[in-house]
Amino acid sequence: MNDSLHQLRCFGCRARVTGAEAKPDFRCALCGDLFEVEYPGWSQRKGPDRPNPGALKWLWRERRCSSEELDHSGVWRFRELLPILDSFDNIVTLREGNTPLYHLPRASKALGIDQLFAKHQGMNPTGSFKDTGMTAAMSVAKERGFEWVACASTGNTSAAMAAYAARAGLRSLVVIPEGKIAWGKLSQAMDYGAVTCQLKADFDGCLRLLTQIVNEAPIYLLNSVNPYRLEGQKTPALEIAETFDWNVPDHLIVPGGNLGNSSALGKGFREMHELGLVARLPRISVIQAAGANPLVRSFETSHGAALEPVEAHTRATAIRIGNPASWRKAARVIQETGGWCLDVTEAEIAIAKAAVGAEGLGCEPASAVTLAGLKKLRAQGAIEPGETVVLMLTGHALKDADYTIDFHRGTLLTDEESVGLESEIEGLRRNAQVVEATPAAVLAAMKDSVG
Ligand code: F0G
Repeated sequence: MNDSLHQLRCFGCRARVTGAEAKPDFRCALCGDLFEVEYPGWSQRKGPDRPNPGALKWLWRERRCSSEELDHSGVWRFRELLPILDSFDNIVTLREGNTPLYHLPRASKALGIDQLFAKHQGMNPTGSFKDTGMTAAMSVAKERGFEWVACASTGNTSAAMAAYAARAGLRSLVVIPEGKIAWGKLSQAMDYGAVTCQLKADFDGCLRLLTQIVNEAPIYLLNSVNPYRLEGQKTPALEIAETFDWNVPDHLIVPGGNLGNSSALGKGFREMHELGLVARLPRISVIQAAGANPLVRSFETSHGAALEPVEAHTRATAIRIGNPASWRKAARVIQETGGWCLDVTEAEIAIAKAAVGAEGLGCEPASAVTLAGLKKLRAQGAIEPGETVVLMLTGHALKDADYTIDFHRGTLLTDEESVGLESEIEGLRRNAQVVEATPAAVLAAMKDSVG
């Protein structure tokens, strides 16, 4: 591992260790907090290891036309900003990243914001944003000679880990809450060959148990407590800045579960700013489901200084997390960038998800909290019509097809959950109909749909 270019710094007590010295659970031996990857050469203004912003922008653009495999990855195309490996030969890539940034014309119009975009991370190889982090941390696992990797997951991390482990020729262990993850994700872990253990525990319990296991056996932990995951997950921030010709959007809205992603994107923008690649930071806001909102509560009660775990309940199973590991990092990102932290109800999530579907994009429920959160922020007057807003859509619509079908059949939400939103819900529902096999019947169904 490239310990000369990077080190790990504890987020709590600032103690520094090399990559090789970190404990298997990636907790600081002195204070128990998490680490962040730090590149000491970047702080010396004129040092040889400090990247040159102009040269990098040119190089990264050139790589888009390259035929090298590494340059086809939207993570490793930016490899100068994640010098964590000794040898690029250890890189495990599925050509992740380079995901599309779509304009959302219907939502733009409905919310009165012209410049509203979705960065669709669901368009990654295993269908979620986790691939960008997994390529980075799996490459480290391979370089360090591990035979086994493991994660606790609400589904997407396990799908990504199983796929990248298979590519790397490593064995993988998945620990998931029984009955609480979407079938699409479970099917991926099985198909990619992971040993999959469903536990009678929630995500937080699964992660606790796995932490004990990795402290006893030589297994490389690939949850987002692993700081190398966040190095990969910061690269969508680079892609966004590059798409806007190195002018950052005014506002980025991210779903919050274990809070690794908001932390990683914040780090990406912060580093670009420190290196002179961009002139300012976007506001970064984190949206949680109302039934799984420990960070929202933390902001309400202590401005993000302390977090009380909650028992989490939401149908957006990806973010059904009550005790998020990276909450301190995410709180700092929100505070540093002047963002907001708020929650949205089950009905608001379902409506927003259907609205993303109606744009021809689709996403999984956890991703839709971003649009639901934006609606709330607009209603509160927190976002002006002239601002540029990017929603991070974290997962593909097909990850959780049951949720989508239940919504359109009208069986997803209870009457209580839908109160006051019935007409909005009805306007978005498109149930499949059983129709007689005649042209007249099909044409009649089309006519009915026009109303
Ligand atoms: N969106 C999706 C689709 C997710 O799968 C997750 C997290 C999040 C948002 C929240 O991101 O945890 O970084 O705040 N899924 C994890 C998993 C926990 O195991 O797949 P976060």
